[in-house]
Amino acid sequence: MAMDVGSDSDSDSSPLLSLPKKKENNRTIVKFAVAAIAVGVLAIFLFFSVVGNSKNGEGGQCNLFNGRWIPHPSGPSYNNGSCNFIDDADNCLKNGRPNTEYLYWRWKPYHCDLPPLDPEKFMNTMQDKSWALIGDSILRNQMMSMICLLSKVEEPVEVYHDEAYKSRSFYFPSHNLTIATIWAPFLVKSVTDEDDDGKAKNEIQLYVDVLEKEWEANYHKYDFVLISGGQWFTKTTVVWENNQVIGCHNCREKNLTELGLEYPYRKALELVFSFISKSDHKPVVIFRTWTPDHFEYGEWFSGGVCNRTEPYKEGQFNGRACDHMMRNIEIEEFRKAAAVGSKDGHDMELLDVYQLSLLRPDGHPGPYRRYHPFDKDKDAKVQNDCLHWCLPGPVDAWNDLMAKMLLD
Ligand SMILES: *[C@@H]1O[C@H](CO)[C@@H](O)[C@H](O)[C@H]1NC(C)=O
Ligand SMILES: *[C@@H]1O[C@H](CO)[C@@H](O)[C@H](O)[C@H]1NC(C)=O
Ligand SMILES: *[C@@H]1O[C@H](CO)[C@@H](O)[C@H](O)[C@H]1NC(C)=O
Ligand SMILES: *[C@@H]1O[C@H](CO)[C@@H](O)[C@H](O)[C@H]1NC(C)=O
Repeated sequence: MAMDVGSDSDSDSSPLLSLPKKKENNRTIVKFAVAAIAVGVLAIFLFFSVVGNSKNGEGGQCNLFNGRWIPHPSGPSYNNGSCNFIDDADNCLKNGRPNTEYLYWRWKPYHCDLPPLDPEKFMNTMQDKSWALIGDSILRNQMMSMICLLSKVEEPVEVYHDEAYKSRSFYFPSHNLTIATIWAPFLVKSVTDEDDDGKAKNEIQLYVDVLEKEWEANYHKYDFVLISGGQWFTKTTVVWENNQVIGCHNCREKNLTELGLEYPYRKALELVFSFISKSDHKPVVIFRTWTPDHFEYGEWFSGGVCNRTEPYKEGQFNGRACDHMMRNIEIEEFRKAAAVGSKDGHDMELLDVYQLSLLRPDGHPGPYRRYHPFDKDKDAKVQNDCLHWCLPGPVDAWNDLMAKMLLD
C-alpha cells in the first residue's frame, strides 16, 4: 500500500505524467523470478494446449490479448505524411527519430490472428454513431491513432476543442460519425493547478467520491464509451472523500496520512462503474487497461531514457510492482462491474492492452517528443517521454483489437 512515497521533491514537477519512483531491483532475483515464471507459463501453456487439443482438435484457445510481436515488413497503414492529425509530441517521424524499426511489427495472438482495423467496415458499422473517449493523454494518443486509421476512408473535421486541446471532437460528415475525447485524467473530480509544462503549482485536489462532471453530464449522448485511467494517480494528490481530506499521496511534508495508490484508484473505479451500471443509458462501454512506461537508466525526472529499438521477447520484462498493482485493481473492478452489468443488459468490454504494450519499449517517443531535439547540440539533455507512444506505432494495434472485439 504505502509504496512510492515521494523521496524526491521533484516528483510533482514532471512535464510528462509524474511517475512513481521504483526501488533498485535485485537483478538476480528478478532473473530467477522471470525464469521461474517463464517455466510456469510454458507448463500451463503446454497443459492447456494438450487439453485444448483433446477437446476441440485445435491448438488451444485464442485470447486476443496474449501473444507476441512478429515482424511486419509492410509496415503501418499511415504515416506522418498521410495523416494530418498526429499530435506533435507523438509524431516521431516528423520529429526526426532516426531508427524506424519500431514501425515494422504486428501483434500476433497465440492460436489466432489479429487483422488490421478495416476502416471501410468500421465506418460503415459506425454510421450515425458517436463515441466518447474518457480519460487522460494516453487515451488521446489512442484517439489520434483511431482518427488516422479512419481518415483513410474519410477526412474528419475537428468540430470542437477546449483551450488546451485536451478535450476534442472530430466529425466524419458523410458517415455522421462523431469521435470525441473528454479530458478526465482521474475519471473522478480533480482540481489541478498546473502550468503549460505540467508543473504543478500546488498539490492536485482529488475527490474520489465525485465524478468528473464533463463526462457525467454528457454520458447519455454517446453510443460507445471508451474509458481508461490510472497514470495520474501516481502524482502528488490530496485526497478528499465525504467533503473532507482523508489523506494524500506522495506529500510527506504535509501532516497527512499516506494513502498509496490503491485506495484512491479503486474508489474512483468503483464510482465510475457504479455510475455506469445505475445509468439507464446503455452505451457499449469499453474499459482499457493500464499501460506501463519504459524508462530505463533513470526515471522521467532523472534522465531516464527508452532507447531500445526492438520489442521485448516474451518473459524478458514483466513490468514493475506498480504496474501489477494498478492492473490488478482494474481487472478486479472491471470483473465486478461486468458481472453486475450483464444482468442489466449493459455491454461491457475489456480492452486489455497491458501485455502487448509491456513488450514495446521501442514504441515511445523518447527524446523525439520535440522537433529534431539534437539538431543544435548532439549531446543536448532532453526530457524523454517513455510513457506515450509514437504514431504510427503500437497503439494502432490497440485499435485493431478494439475493432476485432466490436465488429466480429
Ligand atoms: C515525415 O517524416 C519524414 C522523416 O521520417 C520527414 O522527412 C518529412 O518531412 C515528414 N513529413 C511531414 C509532413 O511531417
Ligand atoms: C446523425 O446521427 C445522429 C445520432 O448520432 C442522429 O440523431 C442524426 O439524425 C443523424 N443525422 C443524419 C443527418 O442522419
Ligand atoms: C500531525 O498530526 C498528528 C496526529 O494528528 C498530531 O499529533 C501532530 O501534532 C501533527 N503535527 C503537525 C506538525 O501538525
Ligand atoms: C541507451 O542509453 C544508455 C544510457 O544513456 C546507454 O548506456 C546505452 O548504451 C544506450 N543503448 C543503446 C542501444 O543505445
